[in-house]
Amino acid sequence: MLWRFRHTWRLYSIASDPGRQGGGIGRLLLAAAIDAARRGGAVALQLEARETPALAGWYARHGFEVIRRLPDYYANGDDAVRMRLTLEPTGASPVR
Ligand SMILES: CC(C)(COP(=O)(O)OP(=O)(O)OC[C@H]1O[C@@H](n2cnc3c(N)ncnc32)[C@H](O)[C@@H]1OP(=O)(O)O)[C@@H](O)C(=O)NCCC(=O)NCCS
Repeated sequence: MLWRFRHTWRLYSIASDPGRQGGGIGRLLLAAAIDAARRGGAVALQLEARETPALAGWYARHGFEVIRRLPDYYANGDDAVRMRLTLEPTGASPVR
């Protein structure tokens, strides 16, 4: 789920079926989201993610950088990180 804004788009939600995780579907969804944002004229894509090594690390491997820590962000008190991918106007997606 992508929210379109004028300059910085927001990746609000991304998920693959729990029984299929680790099979590359998430990578394809993320690549499609990045391409859509770039084609839509966004200068960056931002998201908030649970601050777990698995999830934040997954985004980091795909080019996102932590720009802010968000303590006590979720309803259950879990911390989050705000992450940002700066988009080049042209060129290939960093997701391989
Ligand atoms: C985050 C999420 C979308 C990734 O989707 P995915 O289909 O597992 O994505 P991929 O298969 O492309 O990549 C998963 C990574 O975890 C690794 N992995 C291996 N086994 C895995 C497993 N059983 N489950 C999850 N990831 C696994 C993969 O090797 C891969 O690492 P890599 O990028 O270094 O190659 C998915 O885990 C998910 O739906 N999580 C629950 C919802 C969520 O937390 N969404 C994000 C916040 S909105």
